[in-house]
Amino acid sequence: MDPGSDIIAPFQQSKPDKTICALSEKQEQEAIEAFHHLATVFREPRCLNCHGSVNPFVEGGGHVGGVININETLQQYSRSQSFANAVRESRGGMSTTDQDVQQARDAIEHAVSHPDTGDADIGSSNRDLVFLSCQQCHSVPPLPRWRVPMVKNWFAHIGSRQPKGDEQLCELMRAHTITGDFATPADFLNHLDHEDFVMIGFKGNRGLNDNGILTYEDVTKKTFRLEPPSMPHGEMMKWAKAWAEAIGDRYWNKRPKDCGCKPHRYGMRAQWNNIYRDPEISAFLNTKATPGHAPLVFNDDASFKLQMDMVAQEQAFVAGECRGNLTLKHALSIEGNVDESAERLRAKPRWAWASAEGIMVCTDRRGRTTYKQIKMPMDPTPSSRIPEFDMAAQTDETKELKVEWNQGSQHGETFIKFELMQETEQAK
Ligand code: HEC
Ligand code: HEC
Repeated sequence: MDPGSDIIAPFQQSKPDKTICALSEKQEQEAIEAFHHLATVFREPRCLNCHGSVNPFVEGGGHVGGVININETLQQYSRSQSFANAVRESRGGMSTTDQDVQQARDAIEHAVSHPDTGDADIGSSNRDLVFLSCQQCHSVPPLPRWRVPMVKNWFAHIGSRQPKGDEQLCELMRAHTITGDFATPADFLNHLDHEDFVMIGFKGNRGLNDNGILTYEDVTKKTFRLEPPSMPHGEMMKWAKAWAEAIGDRYWNKRPKDCGCKPHRYGMRAQWNNIYRDPEISAFLNTKATPGHAPLVFNDDASFKLQMDMVAQEQAFVAGECRGNLTLKHALSIEGNVDESAERLRAKPRWAWASAEGIMVCTDRRGRTTYKQIKMPMDPTPSSRIPEFDMAAQTDETKELKVEWNQGSQHGETFIKFELMQETEQAK
């Protein structure tokens, strides 16, 4: 676990996300497999070091170029004659007013470095000032100003500087696809295909200029050479595309954050109950049904088809004459899908078949008792057709339906309750 920090707080999730990830098992496996390869590159020193593993702002941060104290560096700038120029330079093409300069000076005055990261919470534009100083050693044209990512974008853990695992790195990328930083797969692929720092990473020069190389050779006693990642850029792109394709358009910008990062298993449960009346013979039924359950497995287009069996014990009473004990067996089949919004689950349920088995005991007016063995298939349709419905595509969601039916003088109401659930054990 990362230690608590203001900078990462918004990215810590308190409650588990119950949103269903309706990828097929194949899509899920492909996404996980593709990201596993992608994560291998993210953990290469050329990416990992910039993304949190080399931290020039703290003692023991592994920076060959030495410890750079953010506060001191900023204070130096703020005291210098050319402070206004530095602010302007750090903000590149943006127009900078005297007020902006004053605000930057105030922010620096109150800057507090975070003890674990050395980073200061001073706003990204003031933070950019710090990176002017990196150019003494890291400035190989056409390199944009060398800088390291914000803590929330680290591929390494704070403190230990050890790389994060596949799932965490995957969720980090998903956080960017969901918030829209990578609004489309093309945005994501473009970043990996063209972004300057990624390109520098694959060049393997650490952005070092002559002064940087001298420092390197002086400190490490090694001869400087290019050290690009071991996976070729083209292969990384192949895995990045495979990951994006496996997640697809429906889930690219949608929660849950771990959709496309780890396997999900869901199930659907349904329970029914009957209220039955026949005024002509004043009969009533008492039904006790055990819930049916089936794995909810999605196809590539987020559709599903399942069937579950339900068994009920029914006691029947017919106006003082007959008593029955019946076992009712129903099979419920449900077809449906998670729609394009990825928020609603639509379902078309129907009774696939039903049968009743048991014994009826009747006593007539003269006190004669007859026993009748009952064993019959029932046709539950069309008398008890279940309507289509939709519900939030979230686990622990329930939907209750009331189905009224009439058959001759008989009138009944069937209540069915559907529930979406997370399977704790893997199916099969
Ligand atoms: C010079 C340091 C540096 C190097 C080297 C570097 N990055 Fe980055 N990377 C950044 C910065 C800065 C950002 C912008 C995000 C920020 O400021 O927090 C970024 C953003 C990203 C993003 C966008 C998502 C995110 O977490 O912000 C991805 C993906 C990414 N880098 C991948 C890579 C890969 C893959 C490599 C290695 C081939 C690499 N980077 C090398 C500095 C670097
Ligand atoms: C005095 C020279 C010098 C200065 C100034 C300097 N660096 Fe470095 N930096 C180096 C050297 C040398 C390396 C070692 C490269 C290696 O180990 O291969 C390095 C490596 C790095 C790395 C790891 C890069 C990689 O691909 O492994 C990061 C990240 C980094 N520096 C960030 C910074 C930041 C941020 C600043 C400014 C705040 C900065 N450096 C200022 C000399 C310097």
